[in-house]
Amino acid sequence: MNFAVFASGHGSNLQAIIDALKKKKIKTRLALVVCDRKDARALQRAAKAKIPSVLIDPQSFPNRELFDREAVKHLEAARIDFIVLAGFMRILSPYFIKAYEGKILNIHPSLLPAFKGAHAIRDAFAHAVKVTGVTVHFVTEELDHGPIILQESLAVSSQDTLASLEKKIHGLEHKLYPKAIDLFARGRLSFAGRKVVIR
Ligand code: GAR
Repeated sequence: MNFAVFASGHGSNLQAIIDALKKKKIKTRLALVVCDRKDARALQRAAKAKIPSVLIDPQSFPNRELFDREAVKHLEAARIDFIVLAGFMRILSPYFIKAYEGKILNIHPSLLPAFKGAHAIRDAFAHAVKVTGVTVHFVTEELDHGPIILQESLAVSSQDTLASLEKKIHGLEHKLYPKAIDLFARGRLSFAGRKVVIR
């Protein structure tokens, strides 16, 4: 199977995936990195690992669906079977989600359904939660709502700052995402309604 990673920024999850591939913790092929920002560190990480990448500039497309149609062209050319969103900060159109239904994974830095949206770590910290965590889920049209694949919690201590919490969350993400990708690639995930069953 071939997969693509979509990223918009720092790309630390992309790096964790690249490292897991090298260590054969994920036994499938990362064939393409798709990025929507030219200054994204993710592009440099892809280049360093010699993974083909494409920059699609949202400003060149009048709407979300036309951006997504351009992305699909690249995915088809690279024969991509599934998609891994890793800090991709754009909402995908219904067209794209239908085209890859059940084949798009996302990572979110909270225990969904708590703290949806683009600032989950900051929001959970501001709420002074005692427990938070990371969720890997399938992407559906409803934002941060799709069936949950893996979820892991961590404790927030009274010593934690926003920076220390971010560090803990990212550490957990880098462990959890490669695991979920490998489970999907091995065909070990199936659905029972909303429930994802791991075989
Ligand atoms: C990650 O923490 C990821 O969970 C989050 O963006 C960060 C990207 O970091 N995604 C979301 O908040 C999606 N709603 P990275 O670029 O270093 O991988």
